[in-house]
Amino acid sequence: MTADTTTRSRAYVDDRAHVFHSWSAQAALSPVVVAGAEGARFWDEDGNSYLDFSSQLVNVNIGHQHPKLVAAIKQQAELLCTVAPIHANAATSEAARLIAELAPGDLDMVFFTNGGAEATENAIRMARLHTGRHKVLAAYRSYHGATAGALTMTGDPRRWGSEPGIPGIVRYWGPYAYRSAFHAEDDEQECARALAHLADVIMLEGSQNVAALIFETVVGTNGILVPPDGYLQGVRELCDRHGIVMIADEVMAGFGRCGEWFAIDHWGVAPDLICFAKGVNSGYIPLGGVVISRRIADTFADRPYPGGLTYSGHPLACASAVASIGIFKDEGIIEHARHLGEDVIGPGLEKMAARHPSVGEVRGLGVFWAIELVRDRGTREPLVPYNAAGADTKPMTELAAACKERGLWPFTHFNRLHVVPPITIGDDDMRTGLAIIDEALEVADRHAAG
Ligand SMILES: Cc1ncc(COP(=O)(O)O)c(C=O)c1O
Repeated sequence: MTADTTTRSRAYVDDRAHVFHSWSAQAALSPVVVAGAEGARFWDEDGNSYLDFSSQLVNVNIGHQHPKLVAAIKQQAELLCTVAPIHANAATSEAARLIAELAPGDLDMVFFTNGGAEATENAIRMARLHTGRHKVLAAYRSYHGATAGALTMTGDPRRWGSEPGIPGIVRYWGPYAYRSAFHAEDDEQECARALAHLADVIMLEGSQNVAALIFETVVGTNGILVPPDGYLQGVRELCDRHGIVMIADEVMAGFGRCGEWFAIDHWGVAPDLICFAKGVNSGYIPLGGVVISRRIADTFADRPYPGGLTYSGHPLACASAVASIGIFKDEGIIEHARHLGEDVIGPGLEKMAARHPSVGEVRGLGVFWAIELVRDRGTREPLVPYNAAGADTKPMTELAAACKERGLWPFTHFNRLHVVPPITIGDDDMRTGLAIIDEALEVADRHAAG
């Protein structure tokens, strides 16, 4: 390994020798060894402390080491750590009931998984068996997980290394007014044209072949793309007209991130399946799942569902979801997320957009925001090219380094900096973080036209 391991801790040395990390060229890695975390901060073994503006992978919605969540896990560990998924137990039953109560429409059964990819994977399996059709429409600007089906549905370059994927996935363009695939000039046009495009894709693929349409309610890693008002209602109508299962992937956008229990509540639309993970229990124990409409669940009333997992409904994970939902309610966390978005983050980012020539657009809702960086505001040329690698990433690498030097751990993707701290972050820490980003953006400005 290239990194100097002679003066490093045992944790670091063992990591470099034996831990194979996600999505990475292993030799180039030099990971920070995290020694502890609390609330919106984590720190490394050298004593460097960071405001966690990434929520790790946008999952620690409740903040690090929430004492009540930790206590609930300990309590469940004493009681019952694990059972086979065929059995019932109090933690899993309660988690399913609470999630069903929160979900919109007639979604009232839950299939638990270990994470997001297994959720999207099972959602399309359910949709295909329910409809007897095989095609699934998935957006270009999307991420749905890293198992075979989930990665085939994924529109971003993480898919490329695993191609060819599973058969039957058809790609469409979702709305993104700033870089409109439809040459739209405003949100209204973008909405109408994105829906017309979707209707055309369905016609050309043969609606009778289309089992499901999957989308991230608010696209996450690929840009925090908030759909224009009317878009999701339009998707619902198209799905109803053609008997297509509407799947909302809320793995990143759900559980308070967008200032709602489920992001789709923002538009008052009920999909047929919702995929969740991450924020459901802030990843304290791996957990995900699919919330299933009664109609689709009934397909498997007398016919076995051909899918399962040893850890489906894991009691420890489910107990942490029960506790997390309770804490959200007791502490008004959803309301706090809305307040942060409306009163602190939104206005703060608008000010930065006015000050920095490198900022092309800021957008988001709740505690789910993106700063899209450009070389030129007129042409909207991205600060770094799509999927840039090596030296081409320099402006973004410098920006991330400037944030870290100032004690903020950023989430960057392509030419964007995402503002995604734990949704429990206090107003003061939020403002401190925004001030750090404001300062660090001077680095990006050097690469942008004045
Ligand atoms: C929208 C979305 N779907 C699915 C996934 C996959 O989740 P997991 O990594 O838990 O498998 C992610 C992960 O980032 C995601 O953001």
